[in-house]
Amino acid sequence: MSSSQAFTVQPSAAARSDADRQAILAAPGFGNHFTDHMVAIRWTRADGWHDARVQPYGPLSLDPAASVLHYGQEIFEGIKAYRHADGSIWTFRPQANGARLQRSAKRLALPELPVELFVESLRQLIAVDGAWVPSAPETSLYFRPFMIADEAFLGVRAAQKASYYVIASPAGPYFTKGVAPVSIWLSTDYARAGKGGTGAAKCGGNYAASLLPQTIAQAQGCSQVLFLDPVEGKYVEELGGMNVFLVFADGRLVTPALSGSILEGITRESILQLARDRGLQVEERKVSIDEWKQGVADGTISEVFACGTAAVVTPIGELKGEGFSVGSPDAPAGEVTMSLRKELTDIQYGRLPDRHGWLVRLDA
Ligand code: PLP
Ligand code: COI
Repeated sequence: MSSSQAFTVQPSAAARSDADRQAILAAPGFGNHFTDHMVAIRWTRADGWHDARVQPYGPLSLDPAASVLHYGQEIFEGIKAYRHADGSIWTFRPQANGARLQRSAKRLALPELPVELFVESLRQLIAVDGAWVPSAPETSLYFRPFMIADEAFLGVRAAQKASYYVIASPAGPYFTKGVAPVSIWLSTDYARAGKGGTGAAKCGGNYAASLLPQTIAQAQGCSQVLFLDPVEGKYVEELGGMNVFLVFADGRLVTPALSGSILEGITRESILQLARDRGLQVEERKVSIDEWKQGVADGTISEVFACGTAAVVTPIGELKGEGFSVGSPDAPAGEVTMSLRKELTDIQYGRLPDRHGWLVRLDA
C-alpha cells in the first residue's frame, strides 16, 4: 500500500471525556497514560503492507506461538508531537525516525515500512487524538511506533507475518526531577550489545539486556546505566536509553563515535548540528572511560549530558561505579548543556525559526 491509501478509522466508544483528558494532561508523567486510539497496519510476505487502521486503543490478540513472544523479533521508535503557541501540532525529523525504523527492521529481519507510511501513521493518529497533545511548557505527546512478528510458528526463521502499531502517551519530563542533574552508574559486568549484535538497532532485546544493570544502577541511587564497548570494555558507548556528550572546558563538544553497537540518536545528531552552527569544535571519536573520569576530576571536562527523545537534554551530575565516583549529585546544570537544550526545544516548540527544516506539521 502507499501512504495515500485510506486508513479505516474506527472511533473508540470509550474515548475519555474532555474533563478526564484534561486531568491526565495536567500531570502526565512519562509513559503512564495512553490516548483513545492506536494505529495498526498488517504485513504478510504474500500481500505486503495492507489493512491500515486507526482503531480504539486496547489489548492485542496474539497467538501464543507468535514469534515475537519466543524469539524477540520486535523493533520500536520514539518520537514526539509538540504543540506550538498557535495550537498547531508538529513533530521533529520524522523521516529520520522512519529511516531508523527501516534500518532496525533490516537488522531484525522484519519488513521495512515505507517512510511516508510511517509519517502518515503519525498524522492519522493526530487526526483523531490531537486533543491529547498537551500545551504546558516541556510537555508533548510521545509516540511509540513498534513492529512485532506475529506469525504463529516456532521454527527459528524470519516471520512471514508482522504488524506495525503506533500508540501515543502524553509526556512530561522523563526523569522525575525534571531537568535537574542525574547520577549515572557505570556497568562493567554487563554490556547492552555485542560486536556484530543489535546495538545500533532500536529493538526490545537491547532494552531487555539493559534491565538488570539498570536495576543495579537504581539500587546505587542512579537513574541510568552507562555501558562501555563490548569488545575491550574501555570506551564509552551510551546509556540504557540515551546518548552522551562531554563538554570540555576549552569549548570542545565530544561524543562517542558510532561504533556499530551505539544507537544513532536523532537528538545526538541534532545537537551535533546545533553545536557546529555555533562554531563549536565537535568531535565524534572514541572516548575512554578513563578520559571521562580523569577529565571531570581535573576540570578538563566541565559538563556532561545525556540526550534522547524522552530525556531531551539532561545534565549528568555524577558518574559512579564499583569503588569510585566523579562529579557531584548536587552539581548545577552546565551552561553549554542548558543552552543547547534551550535552542533545541525552542526549535521543537516553534519559538525559534526552524532553519534546518526539521519540523513537520501533523495536524494539517
Ligand atoms: N540510545 C538509546 C539506547 C536510546 O534508547 C535512545 C532513545 O531513543 C537514544 C540513544 C536517543 O535516540 P533519539 O535521540 O533518536 O531519541
Ligand atoms: C526514547 O527516548 O524515545 C527512548 O526510546 C528511550 C527510552 C528511555 C524511553
